[in-house]
Order: sequence, then structure tokens, then C-alpha cells
Amino acid sequence: MRRAKIAVFGSTGSVGKSALAVIEHLADRFQLVAIAAHQSVAEICLQAERYQPRYVLLSDKQAAERVKSRLGRRFRVLGGKEALEQFPDSHEIDTLVMAMSGTAGLGAVLAALRQGKKVALASKELLVVYGEPLMRFSRRYHGTVLPVDSELAGIHQCLEGRDFSQVRRVILTASGGPFRRTGPPADAQVRQVLRHPVWKMGKKITVDSATLMNKGLEVIETVRLFGFTPDQVTAVIHPESVVHALVEFRDGSLLAQLSVPDMRLPIQYCLTWPEREGSLVQFLDFEQRMKLHFLPVDQARFPCVQLAYRALAAGSGGTCVLNAANDVAVEAFLQGQIAFGEIPDIIRQTLAQFTGEKKRKRFSIPLLQQLEQRAGEFARKLIGIN
Ligand SMILES: NC(=O)c1ccc[n+]([C@@H]2O[C@H](COP(=O)([O-])OP(=O)(O)OC[C@H]3O[C@@H](n4cnc5c(N)ncnc54)[C@H](OP(=O)(O)O)[C@@H]3O)[C@@H](O)[C@H]2O)c1
Repeated sequence: MRRAKIAVFGSTGSVGKSALAVIEHLADRFQLVAIAAHQSVAEICLQAERYQPRYVLLSDKQAAERVKSRLGRRFRVLGGKEALEQFPDSHEIDTLVMAMSGTAGLGAVLAALRQGKKVALASKELLVVYGEPLMRFSRRYHGTVLPVDSELAGIHQCLEGRDFSQVRRVILTASGGPFRRTGPPADAQVRQVLRHPVWKMGKKITVDSATLMNKGLEVIETVRLFGFTPDQVTAVIHPESVVHALVEFRDGSLLAQLSVPDMRLPIQYCLTWPEREGSLVQFLDFEQRMKLHFLPVDQARFPCVQLAYRALAAGSGGTCVLNAANDVAVEAFLQGQIAFGEIPDIIRQTLAQFTGEKKRKRFSIPLLQQLEQRAGEFARKLIGIN
């Protein structure tokens, strides 16, 4: 069998590293052709030596020069944003794993979809900001977008081969993060916020999990990717993180997707879909007593979930503004510029400021790029940073 050629963008991050482990595990099916990151020189050099891709890409040109001088001529090292955006267009790859932070991967994803390729998409912010035009683009060029997010991969599995018109609603689970019991303390310190009880992830998504904005972003992702209406998508707290998603049908019957919480499973699902292979992930052990709990989301304590629904009601402009404000607020919190409790306020005020513009019916990608930038600038001004 010909091996599928894969590029992992965001290879030095939490999802990227898991993707490399999956590709190594299934080396008879997959060939790693390219890895890409921003500026983690030491890490990407180690990855190049270990996994032997043909291409090593860095969006930061100076970092690319440093990688070139370290690795010599054994690899093709490409530097700069444009190189990353153009690479997935080439015949060198069949599948792009997109796990770069935020919306940095937009150009690369469009390039892959334009060639009708498969994109295993972890970067949820891309669907939150550009979801509508991105999915139109994907349909137009017969590309495939598969969700790496474990909850969305869970929905994908429950819906496989089913008639969407029979679905009453889909239910995303949330671990509840470190403040599930207490509610988020307004003055929580960065190290408390980054102590996630279940998942080990990058800093941005870990903060989003503590405010529950992560669940809000996933609700938006679900609407954009599967085409459900916002009132068909709901979230529930499930501290064990064993059930990743549930789909409820018209007759009241529910299907759920369960597994141990391990990102290597949804990544592998996207890569091998529609087939399955043995994985590196442990099986659930039903010989042990196992309790599963489900609790409603306390929207008063975690206002970010409500803000996400409010943004969804305002359409693509709303979700773009929400994400831009959240990005700025989370970064400001990590830099010690605002308190943890101020994150929802920054988002709320930014959403309110852009109310008029959010109403436009159909947004193109360039219009959303402009809006994202302006909303980010407004949020920075609110905080008093440039
Ligand atoms: N972690 C999870 O379990 C998980 C689960 C579901 C979805 N996701 C989503 O997956 C995405 C990545 O999450 P993560 O936790 O893996 O993040 P992470 O550990 O912070 O890794 C981010 C990756 O993106 C690269 N990057 C950062 N800024 C960039 C830029 N300006 N241009 C190009 N590349 C850039 C980083 O490269 P450098 O190392 O060179 O900076 C790194 O490879 C996020 O959208 C997140 O919401 C994550």
C-alpha cells in the first residue's frame, strides 16, 4: 500500500508532538514529509533528527536560518510565513495536520483544501473565526476537514453514516477545568490556572479550559463544522473526561463516544478515517469500578460560555470578535497585565463595541481578517497595551 504523505504544522506543540507519535506508530501507513513551527529551534532540530522528514519549516525567518546552520544540508529548511502558506499546495503531501496556535495556520489550510486534500484540524480558532467561509471553500474544492478536537472527533464518530435531520441535539462534555468546584477566582494566579486536572496542553487552551471559553469555542466549532443550529449544541460538565461527546436523536436515543482521555486517539482517527488501526492508547478497563458524572454548566460562574452563544447569535462577525478579544485577554493574563477575572469583561466590552458590524450576513475571509485585527486592537486598547 502506498503510504500517505503527511505534514504536521505546529509539530513542537502539545498536539503536534502527539501527531508525530501517531505517525511513527503507524509508519507502514504514513510517511512524515514535513514539520513546521514558529521559532522553537532546538525542539524542531531534535524532531528532524528523530523523525527524518524531508522538509523543516519555520514561520520565523531568523529561526529558520539558525535551524539551517544546525541541520546542514540533510533537510530542506524553509523559512517565513509565505513558505508555510504555500507548502501544502505542493504534491509533496496528501494530508495536513494543522496544530499551530490560533489562526496562524489559515493560509496553509486554504492551500491544502484548494488541492482537495485532507486537513486534520486541531486549531479550533480557525473554525471559530473563519468557519463559514472556510467550510464553503472546502466544499467548493472538495477538500476534507476532520476535527482533531476530542469532543468534535467524538461527534464525528457518533454521526458517521447517519442522517443529520434525525439529530435533536449534540452534547459536548467539559472536564470543568481546575475551578469546577469553586468557580473561577477573580484573582487566580497563572500557575493555578495552568494546572489542568485531566489534559496536558498548550498554555492558551489551558487558560480557555479554566474560563470554560474552550467549551464556548467548541460549541461554535460544532455549529460551523457540522452545520447544526446553536440551539442544537449544548455542553455538560463531565469531570472524568471519558465520554467526549453525545448525540441525541429525535426519539430520545443517545449515542456517546468514550475512551481514555488521550489526544493521540482523535489524531489517529482523523489520519486513518474511515478506517481504524490499533493505537497507542490504553483501553478502558471495565474490570475496575468506574463512575461517570454529568453536571450542568454553571453559566453564572462561567460567563464565557454564554458569551460564546451571544457571539454565535450575531453570526460570523460575532464569533470573529469574540475570538480576537479572547486571544488578547488570555495573552494579557499570561503576561500579568490583567487579572484572571477580567478576561470575560474584556470580551463582553469588545463584543458590545462591534455590535453594528457583526450583523452583516455573509463575511468573506479578508473581511473577517480585518475585523479580527480591529477587534484585537480595541481589546488591547481596553487593557492599555499596544
Ligand atoms: N493541546 C490539546 O490537547 C488540544 C486539544 C484540542 C485542540 N487543540 C488546539 O490545537 C491548537 C494547538 O494547541 P497546543 O496545545 O498544541 O498548542 P501549543 O502547545 O502552544 O503549540 C503551538 C504550536 O504552534 C506553533 N506556533 C505558535 N505561534 C505560531 C505562529 N505565529 N505561526 C506559526 N506557528 C506558531 C508553535 O511553534 P513554536 O513552538 O515554534 O512556538 C507550536 O508548534 C490550538 O488551537 C488548540 O486550541 C489543542
